[in-house]
Amino acid sequence: MSLVPMSQILERANQEDYAVGGFNMNNLEFLQAIIEASEEEKSPVILQASEGALRYMDMHLALPMAISAAENADIPVAIHLDHGSDFSKIIECIRNGFTSVMIDGSKSPFEENIALTQKVVEAAHAVGVTVEAELGKIGGAEDDHVVKSASLADPDECVEFVERTDVDALAVAFGTAHGVYKGEPELDFELLAEVNNRIDLPIVMHGASGVPEESVVKAIELGVNKINVNTAFQQAWTAKVREVLEDPDIYDPRKICGPGRDAMKEAVKEKIRLFGSDNKA
Ligand code: G3H
Ligand code: ZN
Repeated sequence: MSLVPMSQILERANQEDYAVGGFNMNNLEFLQAIIEASEEEKSPVILQASEGALRYMDMHLALPMAISAAENADIPVAIHLDHGSDFSKIIECIRNGFTSVMIDGSKSPFEENIALTQKVVEAAHAVGVTVEAELGKIGGAEDDHVVKSASLADPDECVEFVERTDVDALAVAFGTAHGVYKGEPELDFELLAEVNNRIDLPIVMHGASGVPEESVVKAIELGVNKINVNTAFQQAWTAKVREVLEDPDIYDPRKICGPGRDAMKEAVKEKIRLFGSDNKA
């Protein structure tokens, strides 16, 4: 089991029609919650970190912990860079042990996104690392990744992009957004179905926090095999920590962050069961 390329995890999910969580790590407790929940649910997992989270944790401190956790886990774990912004950062992540990277060229014009993704795919595939890319612009904000004018993916572009880049997984913008939704998200399931019919590749859903459960299930039925969650786990962790801090006598960080971790772990387990990846390890 242990540390594997993301393609290995997603190939099976694609064949058996379930989704695997791309769960964001922001600190040690998040790492523990994600790995422990996945082990207890016997689920493969994609442990991912944004560039902002890697800066906060210091990649050279956090990554060895993540690799060690993955190597000692009795489930398949991929370690994935979320929303990688440029080639040199991606190469640094690959050199340090990531088994998967996202190159997010969605802010660039189509041809530039293709050229950048091709370059990343060539370098990553040479060393067995999986690549995710994005088409359309997923709205909202995650750390310093901010998209003010979101736009949906174009199915023709998706087909051409996949053929020309040889990418392994595609994040398709179909109406989800990063962060907290104002009102109910409007998802374009027809678009998702068309893209899924025309490309033979695992589709990634970003911005899953706050998406109603029935919409998540429908998205999985329509071809989504990786679902990214960050905000919902931050909220679960913080709600518990706030509750604990109401007691002014508590000052030991382990008694503050530990309960946050345990609350988040339950939230991770719920997502795993919703995505159908439990007992798939
Ligand atoms: O890339 C990470 C995600 O798309 C997470 O989105 O924070 O809205 O759950 P979220
Ligand atoms: Zn995202």
